Amino acid sequence: MNSAGLTIEVADSVDSTNSELLRRAAGTDIHRHLLVAERQTAGRGRRGRGWSAVAGGSLTFSLGWRFEQGAERLGGLSLAAGVALARALDASGYHDIELKWPNDLLHRGRKLGGILTESSGSAPGPTRAVVGVGINVRIPAEIRREVAAPITDLASITETEAIDRNDLLARLAIELAMSLQTYSTDGFAAFRSQWRRRDALRDQSVQVLLPDGSTVLGVAVGVDADGALLIERGGRRLRFVNGEVSVRRAHSVSRPW
Ligand code: BTN
Repeated sequence: MNSAGLTIEVADSVDSTNSELLRRAAGTDIHRHLLVAERQTAGRGRRGRGWSAVAGGSLTFSLGWRFEQGAERLGGLSLAAGVALARALDASGYHDIELKWPNDLLHRGRKLGGILTESSGSAPGPTRAVVGVGINVRIPAEIRREVAAPITDLASITETEAIDRNDLLARLAIELAMSLQTYSTDGFAAFRSQWRRRDALRDQSVQVLLPDGSTVLGVAVGVDADGALLIERGGRRLRFVNGEVSVRRAHSVSRPW
C-alpha cells in the first residue's frame, strides 16, 4: 500500500483494466485498488467504443472504489475524476487542459485522454465503482493519422524530451484517490466550480446525439448539481445524463468533436 492508501498492481497485459476490476469486484474488495496495464487487448471506451493505446506511449489504469451511496448519486463521478486528472496534469506542467462532458480530457480541442466510469451495487448503496483512465503520452504520427478524431499527447504539449510515466502515474493516482474520497463525502458539489472553469463546451453550439439516433441542437450552458449536461434550446433548458448521450460541437471545422 502506498502513502495515499492505494494498493498498486502493474500488469503487462489484460483485456481491460476496467473489466478486470469489475470481474474481481464480485468476489473481492477492490476499494483503493489501482490496476495499471502496459497493454490492453480489449480496452473499452464510452458507449461501447474501443480504446486503443500504444504500449510504452500511453497510461492506462483503473481505480476501484467503494461508495456508501447508491449509483444514482454517482452521476458526477466521471466529471469529478476529470477535474482531478486535469489538476494533477496542471501540477505536472501540462497546462490548459479542458474537460468535455462527460469524460474527455482535451488540449486545444484535441483529445488527450478519456475516463470510463462503471459501477455495480444495489440501488440504495453501497456501490462498487471503477474509474478507468486512458491518457496519450507519446503517440506515433502514423497512429494519429489512423484515428478519425483529432487527438494529441503529452509529448506535444511540453518541451520536455523525456516524460517519466511512473512519476506522472503516481501524481494522477494520488489526486484521483483524494478526489474520490472527497466525492464520497461531498458529492459533485465539491467539483462543480472547477469543472466550470475547464468546461470545453460552455456557451458553445452543440449537437446532442440521443440513443435512438435523433439529435438535439442547442447551446451548452454548463452542468447541474448532479453533473448532468444542460442545453438551452428555444428558451427551454434540457438536461442530459451521462451514459445516454454523446455530444459534439455544431458547425466547427477546427474543433470537430
Ligand atoms: C473514452 O474516452 O471513451 C473513455 C476511455 C477510457 C479508457 C480507459 S484505459 C483504462 C480503462 N480500461 C478500459 O478498458 N478503459 C479505460
